Amino acid sequence: MPPKARPTRTVFDRSTIERLAPDVERDADRLLDELAEKLRWGEADFVSTISEQLPVSTVGSWLGIPPEDYPHILEITHNQVFAQELLPTKSQLTVSAEATLALRAYFTELVARRRAEPRHDVLTGWIHTWDAMEPDREKADEILYRLTMFVTIASLETTATLLTSMTHLLTEPARWAWLREHPEHIDAAVDEVLRYDPPIHINTRIAAEDTVLAGVPIKKDSMIHVLYGAANHDPRRNPDPAGFDILRGGSHLTFGGGVHYCLGAALAKLEARTLLARMLDRFPTLRTVAPPEYAARMVFRRITSLGVAL
Ligand code: HEM
Repeated sequence: MPPKARPTRTVFDRSTIERLAPDVERDADRLLDELAEKLRWGEADFVSTISEQLPVSTVGSWLGIPPEDYPHILEITHNQVFAQELLPTKSQLTVSAEATLALRAYFTELVARRRAEPRHDVLTGWIHTWDAMEPDREKADEILYRLTMFVTIASLETTATLLTSMTHLLTEPARWAWLREHPEHIDAAVDEVLRYDPPIHINTRIAAEDTVLAGVPIKKDSMIHVLYGAANHDPRRNPDPAGFDILRGGSHLTFGGGVHYCLGAALAKLEARTLLARMLDRFPTLRTVAPPEYAARMVFRRITSLGVAL
C-alpha cells in the first residue's frame, strides 16, 4: 500500500495568524465596548465580559462556529478539562465524560454541515486535506472531529486564564502607568505574565527509555510530571523569580517544548497583545477591585472571576 501523504504545513503558520489579526482586533473592540458600558455603572467582572469571550470569538470565527453556540461550547469545555487533572474525582470524570460526548456530537455535526456546504474557510481546507490523505471517509471524519475539538479545548481555558492574569498583574497602578508610556514593551509584559503565572501548571510525559534527567535516573515507562510554574520560577533560569519584572528578558516553559510545543502560542499572544494595547489606550485608570477567584484545579487552571473598575 502506498504511504499516506502527510501535511506539509502546520495549521498555525504565520499567514494563518496574520489573517486572524483583523478578526481579533474587531472582537477585542466589540468586547471592550461592552466592558466600557458596564464600567460606566461601577464594577464589572472581567472574566465573563472579556477573558472568556475573546478566545471563543477568535476560535469560533476561525472554525466557523455560529456565535449563538459560544455559551454551549464554553460550558462543555469547562467541564471537559477535568479529565486532564492530575487526580480527578470520580464525579469529575463523569462530568468530563459527558462533556466529551457533547463535544463529539457538536463537532461531528459541524464537520458534516461544512461537508454539505463548503466555504472558503479553514475547516473546509482541513476537510480537503484529510480527504486527500485518508480514503476512508469515516476515519477522516474522526480525525477532523478530534482536530476541531482539540483545538477548541486547547485554546479556550488557557487563553482566558492568560487574559485574566495579565489584567490582574498589569493593572497595578504604577505598572499600568509605566506600560502606557512604554507600549514598545507590551510583548515583554505578556511574556512576563506567561512566565510568572502559567495557565497550565502540569504536563505529563512517559519515559521512552532509561535515561538521566538533571542528574536524576529515570526508568523506561516512568511517568514524569513537569511543573511549569516551578520551572518558570527556577532561580537558575530567572534570577529573583518571585519578582515581576517586565524587562527581565527571562525564559519560560509555559507553552511546553520540543515537538509538542504549543501550536497556538502565537495566536494566544496575538489575542493578549491586541487586548492589552487597546485597554491601555482606552482605560488609563483600569484597576482590579477584587482578587481573582480560582476554580479548584491544578492542570488547566481556571479563573472564574476578576472584579475591575475605573
Ligand atoms: C496562553 C494560552 C496557551 C497555553 C498556556 C498553552 C499551553 C500549551 C502546552 C503547555 C502544550 C503542551 C506542550 C507540550 O506537551 O510540550 C500545548 C499544546 C498545544 N496547544 Fe496550546 N496553549 C495555549 C493556547 C493555545 C491555543 C490558542 C491553541 C489553538 C489555537 C493551542 C493549541 C495547542 C495544540 C494543538 C497543542 C498540541 C501540540 C502537539 O501536541 O503537537 N494552544 N499548549
